Amino acid sequence: MTDRVLIVDFGSQVTQLIARRVRESGVYCEIHPFNTVTGEFLSRFGARAVILSGGPASVTKGETPRAPDALFAMGVPVLGICYGQQTMVAQLGGRVAASDHREFGRAYVDVTGDCGLFDGVWRKGGREQVWMSHGDRVIEIPKGFRAVAVSEGAPFAVIADDKRRFYGVMFHPEVVHTPHGAQLLRNFTHGVAGCRGDWTMAAFRDAGIAKVRAQVGKGRVICGLSGGVDSSVVAMLLHEAIGDQLQCVFVDNGLLRLDEADEVTRLFRDHYNIPLVRRDAVALFLGALKGVTDPEEKRKRIGATFIDVFEDEAEKAGGADFLAQGTLYPDVIESVSFAGGPSAVIKSHHNVGGLPDRMSLKLVEPLRELFKDEVRALGRELGLPERIVGRHPFPGPGLAIRIPGAVTAEKLDILRRADAIYIDEIRAARLYESIWQAFAVLLPVQSVGVMGDARTYEFVCALRAVTSTDGMTADYFAFDHEFLGRVAGRIINEVKGINRVVYDVTSKPPGTIEWE
Ligand code: XMP
Repeated sequence: MTDRVLIVDFGSQVTQLIARRVRESGVYCEIHPFNTVTGEFLSRFGARAVILSGGPASVTKGETPRAPDALFAMGVPVLGICYGQQTMVAQLGGRVAASDHREFGRAYVDVTGDCGLFDGVWRKGGREQVWMSHGDRVIEIPKGFRAVAVSEGAPFAVIADDKRRFYGVMFHPEVVHTPHGAQLLRNFTHGVAGCRGDWTMAAFRDAGIAKVRAQVGKGRVICGLSGGVDSSVVAMLLHEAIGDQLQCVFVDNGLLRLDEADEVTRLFRDHYNIPLVRRDAVALFLGALKGVTDPEEKRKRIGATFIDVFEDEAEKAGGADFLAQGTLYPDVIESVSFAGGPSAVIKSHHNVGGLPDRMSLKLVEPLRELFKDEVRALGRELGLPERIVGRHPFPGPGLAIRIPGAVTAEKLDILRRADAIYIDEIRAARLYESIWQAFAVLLPVQSVGVMGDARTYEFVCALRAVTSTDGMTADYFAFDHEFLGRVAGRIINEVKGINRVVYDVTSKPPGTIEWE
């Protein structure tokens, strides 16, 4: 069995980054909120090592989060980060004090001793850059510990008890601003705890296939395939696991990009031989959207129509026992996080809310443990083409939320053609991979232009491109003007109905990525 590391979450903003770093070093780990980590949970989980995250609370104030005491009696290595260090110290008999000297941002520690965490990275006598974010500090360490690094604001910046293999760091090794942070974490998981680092996507794929088979048995699974990365990877994995017990449903809602419906059908049905029903529901969706201008109302109607169509197709396909969904790990963490996640709103976009209950289906969620870039790696492992695996995110409501105001077939047609030219040029300029998401928006504004000798009065097209790591925040992408001019020229010349193109230079916040 793969080695597992448990990350106990005390609510730090950067807990997910601990998981990223650990997984990047080839070790499987899971994040669990501190208040769900009981003694019983610990024995079931079977951690090879435990990391206690940072958090916003102060151990100097009465009732604040604690790790279960059983955790320190399991005989496995423990690394406490920031708040995690402080609660470990307080729970093991040391003392923590509130300090008026807050350390925030880049800081330096002086290495005063050697320990397992530092192997091959930091040496006694060195001065090392780290990222701090704390007010409280440890003022007395528990028996068995020694200080191995100090900082201006913290006499016990790093503490070690080599016998019990307990370590505490005042700074955040998981953020990139601690230049050797990833290696320190690796020293903990691989060196101190002896994890093998054999968690690869190939291993995940095999384990995932076995898990799906065990869950599904001889049951039938239905999967809504959109052609996006997540649903494509789910479909591929399931097909490998259960073959023709899988039935994919692709709903053409008329809100897709140019040629997208054909591409998806060709790839999955014709190329991979995955059982796929394609339902043409364009008229149904356009009917449901007729005259609707409010963005949330558009989403609601699209969602409801999708459920109707999907349910109908599932029934026609002979019923199913399971519904496959592309739920990802960040969704899972947010839904269990005691602190609540900032992206709660985004999450409600995902998945087909309401379907499993309405159809009394059980869920198959083979990507529940993965981050987005790990899903991409799994897709590559499963042999999906780069064109699918590297795709920009595309919202469920599709082009409907890129046409502010009422959506019509004519506008969709105009937008589709403009968008295709834009993406085409981005690919040709080899910029596609550097951009998180790029798309065209058709504004409900007409402007006057002149083409040849004639006056035109046509729509304005806005181009959007952003960089981001998770869609929560984003910066506009800085194309050079020559590129923008070329795209604008092509769109105006080739797409009848558009006579002006503008570029959106709004970041998020205060803007959102989509226009609606
Ligand atoms: P915003 O516009 O909120 O978008 O900055 C953040 C990310 O979410 C996508 N998005 C959606 N995805 N259904 C989805 O499946 C939706 O209703 C929806 N709205 C926005 C958006 O494309 C971006 O990647």
